[in-house]
Amino acid sequence: MNIQLKTDTPLALQADSLILGLFEGTKTLPDSFQLIDRALGGTIAEAIARKEFKPELNETFVLPGTRKAHRILLVGLGEAEKFTQDRLRQAIGSAMKAARDLRAKRVSIAGFSLPSDRELVQAIVEGAELGLYTYEECQSKNNKDEPAPRVEHLAILLPKVTAQAEAGLHAGIVTAEAVNWVRDITNRPAGSLTPSDLAAEARAMAEPRGLKIKVLGKKELKAQGFGCLLAVNAGSTRPPAFIIIEYHGGKKGDKPYALVGKGLTFDAGGLCIKPSAGMLEMKSDMAGAAAVLGAIRVLADLRVPVNVVGLISSTENMPGPTAYKPGDILKNYGGLTVEVVDTDAEGRVVLSDALAYADRNYDPRATIDLATLTGSIIVALGPHVTGLFSNDSAIADRLYQAGQKTGERVWPMPMWDAYTDRIESDIADVKNSDHSKADCIAAAKFLEKFAGKRPFAHLDIAGPSWIDDDRPYELKGATGHGVRLLVEFLGGYR
Ligand code: BES
Ligand code: ZN
Ligand code: ZN
Repeated sequence: MNIQLKTDTPLALQADSLILGLFEGTKTLPDSFQLIDRALGGTIAEAIARKEFKPELNETFVLPGTRKAHRILLVGLGEAEKFTQDRLRQAIGSAMKAARDLRAKRVSIAGFSLPSDRELVQAIVEGAELGLYTYEECQSKNNKDEPAPRVEHLAILLPKVTAQAEAGLHAGIVTAEAVNWVRDITNRPAGSLTPSDLAAEARAMAEPRGLKIKVLGKKELKAQGFGCLLAVNAGSTRPPAFIIIEYHGGKKGDKPYALVGKGLTFDAGGLCIKPSAGMLEMKSDMAGAAAVLGAIRVLADLRVPVNVVGLISSTENMPGPTAYKPGDILKNYGGLTVEVVDTDAEGRVVLSDALAYADRNYDPRATIDLATLTGSIIVALGPHVTGLFSNDSAIADRLYQAGQKTGERVWPMPMWDAYTDRIESDIADVKNSDHSKADCIAAAKFLEKFAGKRPFAHLDIAGPSWIDDDRPYELKGATGHGVRLLVEFLGGYR
């Protein structure tokens, strides 16, 4: 989609749909709408007066327009006092999908405002690009009589095109492209996205951006003692990959943030095999890894002044004659021994090597992992919220605020020592499960053991990384959750 910032008056511009937003409870139209309404013969005011259109958040309503602006697409913004950047992102997502349903090719958007032009334009661009996302890689051309409708041009009308507005446009485009790329690779079937394919995607992202990238294969992993990643990989015919990617945007010598991602390209559960229904979405068990790659991509594109290292443990978790088994004792990269109680609790196992690798090789100023780690976090928080586990209240607070800002919400979960006995093993240093309730907390305590004595946060994205129903700017399937959260957290949108 081609996106432009313009200063034209709304009705003077050629458009198939002109999107206008209204707050709930609007009695008299805002000044900026008066002229438009008059030109339309008062139909907007009438639709509101007759309660044909109630501007609840994400509600849309179509009116005939003029010869130039063919259709007027009203979108509800909800209550004015509750309006935020994310509500705008949602409203634009809803409106753009409605415009696409009307087969609009040319859309203009006018009359929206937020205190900052940068946030305004970024939210509009993200709402539009994320809202219109479709996953098309697996659709053959000959299955449909006519091509799916597509919005080709978007004009964002502003009183003035400021430098802030331009910055918002750039940030919005770069972000939406990264999130949609993350969605594509997360939606991609496991047969087409193996650990080697994930590494190739990472390379294709990193190299043109001048990022340093290294991928450790089976031989190197053996030589360097990645006992946990190798064990989970043992049942798979596809080799594992450990991806190391560095972004140096900050001062030389500034400690990096370590971003660690769970990269299970398929999680069948291993010998503790999953039931069929639970296995279906497990191609997306690499969503954490993809989000880490997506965030680094945005940081690089926006030249954010921060140093970051991304570390990704990637493998499949398959059953088979050579698979790792319950009762096995593994040796982690950092030297700790791990008792395998359940082979389906493999995420924490592969992450343990990556966390220990970060601790030993990077001296990070903080380590943050993203992982589709547990079903139990979905029980606790539902499908749309990320579980936040941290030993550092400052980091936790910043992540919480970043979630509020971006709409990728996170909620704090306890990490009290009272939970430590959940991972104590009789025969090894730790065990990976005790099969009791609130497994998401046991998993977090397990990870904490490997991160070293430094600020650590674990984000369990099992819920929001994949959704079963469409949302205003998220199509069902992979959402790309975590990208915008991490970029906001690392100061990328300031
Ligand atoms: N990848 C799953 C967690 C998951 C479940 C993500 C549902 C997204 C949706 C993870 O590897 C897993 O299987 N966890 C087990 C752990 C249990 C065996 C202790 C779980 O949550 O059931
Ligand atoms: Zn599992
Ligand atoms: Zn898993």
